[in-house]
Amino acid sequence: MTNQTTKPLFKPFSSDKLHLVNRTVMAPMTRGFSPGNVPNEEVAAYYRRRAENEVGLIITEGTGINHPASVSGENIPVFHGEQALNGWANVVKEVHEAGGKIAPQLWHVGMTRSTGDLPNKEAAPVGPSGLNLNGEKVNEPLSTEEVEALVESYAKAAADAKRIGFDAIEIHGAHGYLIDQFFWGNTNKRTDRYGGDFVKRTQFAVEIVEACRREVGEDFPIIFRFSQWKMNDFQAQLVSSPDELERFLEPLVEAGVDIFHCSTRRFWESEFEGSSLNLAGWTKQISGKPVISVGSVGLDSVFTDFSGAETSSLDGLVDKLDRDEFDLVAIGRSLLMDPEWVKKVHEGRTDDMLAFNKEAMQKLY
Ligand SMILES: Cc1cc2nc3c(=O)[nH]c(=O)nc-3n(C[C@H](O)[C@H](O)[C@H](O)COP(=O)(O)O)c2cc1C
Repeated sequence: MTNQTTKPLFKPFSSDKLHLVNRTVMAPMTRGFSPGNVPNEEVAAYYRRRAENEVGLIITEGTGINHPASVSGENIPVFHGEQALNGWANVVKEVHEAGGKIAPQLWHVGMTRSTGDLPNKEAAPVGPSGLNLNGEKVNEPLSTEEVEALVESYAKAAADAKRIGFDAIEIHGAHGYLIDQFFWGNTNKRTDRYGGDFVKRTQFAVEIVEACRREVGEDFPIIFRFSQWKMNDFQAQLVSSPDELERFLEPLVEAGVDIFHCSTRRFWESEFEGSSLNLAGWTKQISGKPVISVGSVGLDSVFTDFSGAETSSLDGLVDKLDRDEFDLVAIGRSLLMDPEWVKKVHEGRTDDMLAFNKEAMQKLY
């Protein structure tokens, strides 16, 4: 039986290019369960379980584009090479068989990597100015040609995603990783076309979106994830007013982003003074594009506190969705903990909702 109070979550979503059975999205979550950087049967089954239980769109964990320093660790899936792409094709097959839809999150960690990290121990971290998130010099800046080659690696990954049957791509431009290191003034001191003020610093992302669009064609959805906050600084800001947000978003919209995924740690927090809209709400209003909101849905503490969290009411979320402040809702830890989370919400099984515990991080439920 459908639960009336959460009905807005279960309205179908329809945009120009993407149609989903409901408004729920599985947030991208790095799991580290892909030995040799290849997603295996267990990973496919993990995603399939979410598709079987009514998740509208699955966004995979961040998966590394083709560059020696794109990921950190031998169990993080990559998105290049025959083995890894075959593994992803199997993930797509399982999810589609269960009636779900899925997008890979294309990722490069940039300067958050350390030399010596697997899978390529000798590969040094790369970033716009060779600075880590604390602004310390670790490497030389990327040359203009190296940046252009990275753009093409994203484009190749987008082409492969379409070829092996994914329903969309998400470009990871958030949380202080490579693309965000170009956005952020603390890490981007460049003087070529990839540097300058906060609008000019969107150029790397703009070229990536344009190159991906060139590869996937007009009809394939491109989702772009961004955040104000960084892994080392939750108060960081790329923009400090609606006007600045508008100037930041404009080049990305023009480049061809279809859906913005606005990453916040608490969806209920207002972004700018004088309005209760969150980052997703403002982005929707300014860009006119559909948006995904995210952050502590169904839980009482933020994801960067990994010690655990209790369940919490969905009333505030449903109100915002019902007011069309945002279109879609991404759910992270609740879905990591419980593959049936969406289904339980749909059926009003509130007594069955599970609290998030940190042991869940060690398993692929
Ligand atoms: C274990 C874990 C891994 C994550 N990995 C990624 C990632 O690969 N890419 C990304 O954009 N966000 C990542 N995130 C952030 C989530 O996508 C999401 O934004 C965050 O957990 C907030 O949602 P929640 O409060 O519902 O968990 C991760 C979060 C968790 C808990």
